[in-house]
Amino acid sequence: MKEFLDEILYSEEDIDKKVRELGAQITKDYKDKDLLVVGILKGAVSFMSDLIKRIDLPLTVDYMDVTSYEGVNTSGQVKILKDLDNSIEGKDVLIVEDIIDTGTTLNYIKNLFENRLANSVTIATLLNKPKRRKIDVYVKYIGYDIEDLFVIGYGLDYNEIGRNLPYIGTLKKEIYS
Ligand code: IMP
Ligand code: MG
Repeated sequence: MKEFLDEILYSEEDIDKKVRELGAQITKDYKDKDLLVVGILKGAVSFMSDLIKRIDLPLTVDYMDVTSYEGVNTSGQVKILKDLDNSIEGKDVLIVEDIIDTGTTLNYIKNLFENRLANSVTIATLLNKPKRRKIDVYVKYIGYDIEDLFVIGYGLDYNEIGRNLPYIGTLKKEIYS
C-alpha cells in the first residue's frame, strides 16, 4: 500500500496520542450529559472506534451514512444513504467525522440534528482542511489542521482504497491529478 503514498503524515503512535487527548477532553466536557456519539460512515469508522474507547462515560452510539455531490448550480447537495436508528430528541449529540473539507456535509447534518431537537450538537473531526472551507461550521474538537492535500488511511479513502491503513498519508499527486 505504501506505493500509493508520498509521505506518512501521522503515524499510528501520533494518532493514538491525539485520540487519547480528544477523549480526555470530551470526558470532561460531557460529564452529567446524555451523550450520543454519531459516526459518519464510512470514513469515520476507525476514528470513532478508537475515540469512544477513550471517553470514560456512559454513552450510546449510532451511525449515519451520507453522500455529498456538486449540483449544476449548487456548491454541494447532501443525500442521506442511511439514517440514524434512534431518536436524538433531548440528547447531547457528538458527531464524529474523519475530515472536514468544504464543510457542506457537517453543516447539513448539524442543522438536521438541531431540527430534530437534540439538546446540543457538537462536532469532533480527526482532520480539518481550513483553507478549503466554503461553509462556516463551528468544530469544537479538531485532531489536526492540514494543508489542502488529499490524504488516505485510518478510515479515509481514495475511490474506496486506503481505509485499512493504520496511519495517515498523502496520496501521490499523479494518482489523483
Ligand atoms: P465536505 O462536505 O466537503 O466537508 O467533505 C467531507 C468529506 O469529503 C469527508 O467526509 C471525506 O469523505 C471527503 N474528503 C475530503 N477530503 C478528503 C481527503 O483528503 N481524503 C479522503 N476523503 C476526503
Ligand atoms: Mg466521509
